[in-house]
Amino acid sequence: MVHKVKGVVALSKGAPVTLETILVPDPGPGEALVDIITSGVCHTDLHYKLGGISDDFPFLLGHEATGVVSAVGPDVTSVVPGDRVVLNWRAVCGTCRACAKGQAQYCFNTANATQKMTLEDGTELSAALGIGAFIEKTLVAAGQCTKVDPDADAAAIGLLGCGVMAGLGAAINTGGVKRGDTVAVIGCGGVGVAAIAGAALAGATTVIAVDIDAKKLERATHLGATHTVDSSEGDPVEQIRALTGGFGADVVIDAVGRPETYKQAFYARDLAGTVVLVGVPTPDMTLELPLLDVFGRGGSLKSSWYGDCLPSRDFPMLISLYQQGKLDLDAFVTERISIDQVEEAFDKMHAGAVLRSVVEL
Ligand SMILES: NC(=O)c1ccc[n+]([C@@H]2O[C@H](COP(=O)([O-])OP(=O)(O)OC[C@H]3O[C@@H](n4cnc5c(N)ncnc54)[C@H](O)[C@@H]3O)[C@@H](O)[C@H]2O)c1
Ligand SMILES: [Zn+2]
Ligand SMILES: [Zn+2]
Repeated sequence: MVHKVKGVVALSKGAPVTLETILVPDPGPGEALVDIITSGVCHTDLHYKLGGISDDFPFLLGHEATGVVSAVGPDVTSVVPGDRVVLNWRAVCGTCRACAKGQAQYCFNTANATQKMTLEDGTELSAALGIGAFIEKTLVAAGQCTKVDPDADAAAIGLLGCGVMAGLGAAINTGGVKRGDTVAVIGCGGVGVAAIAGAALAGATTVIAVDIDAKKLERATHLGATHTVDSSEGDPVEQIRALTGGFGADVVIDAVGRPETYKQAFYARDLAGTVVLVGVPTPDMTLELPLLDVFGRGGSLKSSWYGDCLPSRDFPMLISLYQQGKLDLDAFVTERISIDQVEEAFDKMHAGAVLRSVVEL
């Protein structure tokens, strides 16, 4: 059976997104059909719409989602209909060279649904991050469904499906922030603020929030920032050094992903410190740094895809911390919107008015 449902599609580069009728097949082997409950609007959706990720239009947007499994393929045993799930874009294969080394968080062969969702005329859709969740029903690989506690607020925990997990993991997993560390986070959108919350959770004693938008800085202080730096007023490097005894931070996280913010992160880091790039650059961007500084400053320059998370390990653990009141996921949900308000949500994101708009289906 094919399901006819409404979903938010970016038909061509830069065009406003539209609500289209989409045909979703029943799950085949290894697949699951999921009724979406909530899906957050992530900057990566905007990157897709603007053609910053690839040219494989049309895209079915949305990927930070909670749902209920409604049907599974014949061979699927990991989830059953009725399970509450958060969708992930890291369904690990278990056999690639990363998985074989016991480093499944880098899996090079993650699974998505094999069958395609299409427009009514048969045009195949590219699902954002292999998910596509601004839709009533979506088709994913069964491994993309992480079973979670059905009592936790769907809008809040769904954000672990991408941006909030990316930020928390950039600090905790990739950056390896430890008790007593000094941390600076450049860019305080959903991802950056999550990195701030992650650094605070890991026991960092100095957590410096950097943004060009004062509203974002105000919000960051509620989630664990101990200091703020408004970088619209000039290069933040000196201020970060001043706040860290003149040295720079142990871990600096770039949650913007531009050459200028990366350079700030690079120079705001203490000797032997760590830079984590979690913001996603666009294909036109290049970076120039004195190679002698790369060598001479030591330490490590890392990138963080999805916060180096393992969904099956990290989602239930973080939801547990949320339920214990140790991780304020509710603070990331700025507004709840309907499926026809995604374009407005992009405008609000652009204007810095929200951490996350969450579509309720
Ligand atoms: N690596 C991953 O796995 C992953 C996952 C999700 C999102 N992302 C990426 O993370 C980035 C942030 O996503 P988001 O949803 O938080 O976006 P957002 O738009 O909500 O936040 C971006 C923030 O950066 C600030 N900013 C912009 N330019 C700046 C500058 N020059 N200096 C300091 N601050 C600046 C903005 O004011 C805003 O607060 C995006 O590039 C997104 O694609 C990465
Ligand atoms: Zn693998
Ligand atoms: Zn995302």
